[in-house]
Amino acid sequence: MNFDSVLKRRCSIRKYSTVKVSLNEITKVAEASRFSPMAGNIHTVRLIIVNEEKKKAELAEAALQQYFIADAPYLIVICSDITQLSRSYKNQAEKYARQQAGAAIENMFLKATDLGLACCWVGAFDEEKIKTILNIPQNIHVEAILPIGKPTKKPRKAKKKPDLKMIAYFNKWGQGEIKPAKKLDVR
Ligand SMILES: Cc1cc2nc3c(=O)[nH]c(=O)nc-3n(C[C@H](O)[C@H](O)[C@H](O)COP(=O)(O)O)c2cc1C
Repeated sequence: MNFDSVLKRRCSIRKYSTVKVSLNEITKVAEASRFSPMAGNIHTVRLIIVNEEKKKAELAEAALQQYFIADAPYLIVICSDITQLSRSYKNQAEKYARQQAGAAIENMFLKATDLGLACCWVGAFDEEKIKTILNIPQNIHVEAILPIGKPTKKPRKAKKKPDLKMIAYFNKWGQGEIKPAKKLDVR
């Protein structure tokens, strides 16, 4: 898929087909996380790939009862280890780690889209419960859960997004209007 199509097709999908996803596909998604930018090239992102039914059900419960999560054949739980980042960036480390996790998550989301997989970024959960379920040490932050599966026959379309002129300014806050690009390669 070309890059603009991947960008435009990416959308949160919360219904998964019963068709199997291979571990190889999930590995490709996980691999995409390695290529996101990291301050000082310090890689803070850690992943836990979950496919055990019992654990998935427990994680869905811990994610404020978002039961659709357990319907996905695989979950990728994204964590941050900021130990090394803290040494280099002191009080900026927490902020950088959050940003790095976001960049890695988006890379994986886009790769999943590229592979024709269905995915959703889940940020609402009880962190302590997730740590207990997955045996995650206390000093590690849990950032998000990505349920990944095959889309159903009728996957939903991407949501409407704000026009660029609503979110981008020239030279100072609130100033100017940026016209949409002449042609963005779509679908
Ligand atoms: C930080 C963050 C947390 C989110 N948490 C959840 C969540 O807990 N459950 C869920 O179903 N969707 C969650 N979403 C997905 C958003 O609802 C979704 O991205 C938004 O509605 C826009 O739709 P789209 O992804 O299809 O463009 C989250 C997204 C982000 C970026």
